[in-house]
Amino acid sequence: MTLATAKSGACPEQRVRDLLAELVRTADAAGDLDLCLSSFEWCAEEPRYLPACRQIEGATGVTPVIDALKDAVGFLRWQQTYGLQDGMSQGWLDDYGWAHLVSPDGPIVSASLRIAIAIWGAGYTYPAHAHGPKETYVILSGDAVFDSAGRPKRRVGPGDLVHHAPWQTHGFAVGDTPLIVGTIWQGEGLLQKSRLEGPDR
Ligand SMILES: [Fe+2]
Repeated sequence: MTLATAKSGACPEQRVRDLLAELVRTADAAGDLDLCLSSFEWCAEEPRYLPACRQIEGATGVTPVIDALKDAVGFLRWQQTYGLQDGMSQGWLDDYGWAHLVSPDGPIVSASLRIAIAIWGAGYTYPAHAHGPKETYVILSGDAVFDSAGRPKRRVGPGDLVHHAPWQTHGFAVGDTPLIVGTIWQGEGLLQKSRLEGPDR
């Protein structure tokens, strides 16, 4: 894979592109992702901070990505897919958030690819869910036990990849430290909300 040479210029763009480059390098080293990121344009987003971001400060793991994340965190637009209405507790929400690096809405624009950094708090569970795009999680910090339909449960940690096919149900339980991952989605419905599943849904 080749990444576009990061342009000099606006500091936010440089830092986000540097973070993306480190994330993709890590994913490539662990697997064989076939991504073409050569010509994606920059479309600045208004930065937004969430309480979950405080967990980045003490993170360890895949050092090049975590260091680049620490440099870029204040330039990203941190968001949440879920809320209290989805049955999540306030504690769960206080430790949870994600920010796009690549998406149809930016900050690096692609109609066919969504790459984000996501955070979940220590000890919390992301309930079973599914979505149309195929997905690769790149574990950057912390560890978790993944429960993916059709596979034995598996504990993963920094540097590991976890792949899911379209609509393959999956969830995970976070270990004793916050979980920080890169998520890479490809396919249709990149901005659609994941479908929570399980007996109480
Ligand atoms: Fe997922």
